[in-house]
Amino acid sequence: MVRARLWSRPMSQSGARAASDGESNAAGEAVDFGFRRVSVDDKGRLVRAVFDSVAPRYDLMNDLMSAGLHRHWKNALVDWLNPRPGMRLLDIGGGTGDIAHRCLARGAQPIVCDVNARMLNVGRDRDLDGGALSSISWVNGDAENLPFADSSMDACATAFCLRNVTGLARALREARRVLKPGGRFLCLEFSRVVIPILDRLYDSYSFRAVPLLGRWVADDEEAYLYLAESIRRFPAQEDFAAMIAEAGLGQVKHRNLSGGIAALHSAWRV
Ligand SMILES: C[S@@+](CC[C@H](N)C(=O)[O-])C[C@H]1O[C@@H](n2cnc3c(N)ncnc32)[C@H](O)[C@@H]1O
Repeated sequence: MVRARLWSRPMSQSGARAASDGESNAAGEAVDFGFRRVSVDDKGRLVRAVFDSVAPRYDLMNDLMSAGLHRHWKNALVDWLNPRPGMRLLDIGGGTGDIAHRCLARGAQPIVCDVNARMLNVGRDRDLDGGALSSISWVNGDAENLPFADSSMDACATAFCLRNVTGLARALREARRVLKPGGRFLCLEFSRVVIPILDRLYDSYSFRAVPLLGRWVADDEEAYLYLAESIRRFPAQEDFAAMIAEAGLGQVKHRNLSGGIAALHSAWRV
């Protein structure tokens, strides 16, 4: 559990700063971990601790927190990606494999890559509960240093991972590097609510109700407070689109989901 924390409450919950860009994450430099500033090394350790702690209850919490909406958002990602049979697809920060399973069902060959072995184990166990291990590959690896060859993937998909990485620009460049020319990048992330009133309701839901749910269901309130804070630190739709373009991907487009609570970004390696 993420108990050892020197938490400082923010002046403003919505005063977002762009996530660290990964260009200058020298050791010892401070980066965001939710609303805290921590060293680069500590961020990796703290993020791993969050997902170590939440892994056993991660899938249940997703359903409870989003009232099942995350399933609709993930379906929207896969619909937009439109995987074709045989497509080699990398699910970056794929956790327990929700995106990979949906793509497998459409004939793709998914590889889940995640820095956290406990999340991968929960996904593999879920596979076994289904009676047989699926043909999904489960790989322990970092989005900022993907253990795959250049131009080896037809598509890279990522859901709710990138706001946790230390160097966002570096992770985007890695996704581009492993994509074949003509390959597709799709990202699902929490984003900025664009509907007045909904933004305030959403703020109080995510900063009050979600951490309480985290305490009751996953026995870790702080991990879920971090999740709410990390959402506010992630770049807004247009800023993130600009970062994707800066990483060298082309034809960047985005779509809001549920009034901007989440957003899908699509791009191509041209
Ligand atoms: C919120 S979960 C999302 C899991 C899954 N994609 C989903 O949508 O259900 C974030 C995942 O990103 C992973 N993650 C965080 N930082 C990462 C990194 N630098 N490289 C790879 N995975 C990372 C975490 O271990 C966790 O499994």
